Amino acid sequence: MTVESLLKEVVLLTESEGLMKGCEILLEVDDTPLSVSIDVKQIKQVILNMVKNAMDAIEEVGEEHTGMIRIKTATENNFVQITIADNGRGMDHNTLVRLFDPFFTTKESGTGLGLSVSYRIIKNHGGTISVDSQKGEGTSFMIKLPLVF
Ligand SMILES: Nc1ncnc2c1ncn2[C@@H]1O[C@H](COP(=O)(O)OP(=O)(O)OP(=O)(O)O)[C@@H](O)[C@H]1O
Ligand SMILES: [Mg+2]
Repeated sequence: MTVESLLKEVVLLTESEGLMKGCEILLEVDDTPLSVSIDVKQIKQVILNMVKNAMDAIEEVGEEHTGMIRIKTATENNFVQITIADNGRGMDHNTLVRLFDPFFTTKESGTGLGLSVSYRIIKNHGGTISVDSQKGEGTSFMIKLPLVF
């Protein structure tokens, strides 16, 4: 499975919802295909949750805000790094420290399971998740997965 095809599928699945919510989804991927050995369903679930979280964070800023979600890839040593960056509401310290806790949510209808499950899935794949967020500015999630050659 290549990372590009997986990300393209996720964009196809989320694009129309994004447009309805006033956010554009940009995909910037390398031309060279990057192969990963993954459980496609699981990794798709991880990326989908992150894109949905990004849309929610953009929606929470307000209607007049132009939402932007950038998904890009880069390679580093034997890993591919997938970055999902949004210009949504960002997170405060209290949210940042509890982000991956099961059942932690700030949403009325959230389960708070999205990121805790994602964390486990990526860990089981020999990868890592990290996050960078500024309140009022936006959030970036970085997923690293081992490449296969
Ligand atoms: N991109 C983001 N911008 C701002 N806050 C975020 C972002 N991603 C996650 N969060 C915060 O982290 C919390 C936990 O996210 P998680 O995906 O685990 O659960 P959820 O989105 O609340 O619920 P569910 O995934 O079931 O819809 C969210 O409620 C939100 O406060
Ligand atoms: Mg979620």
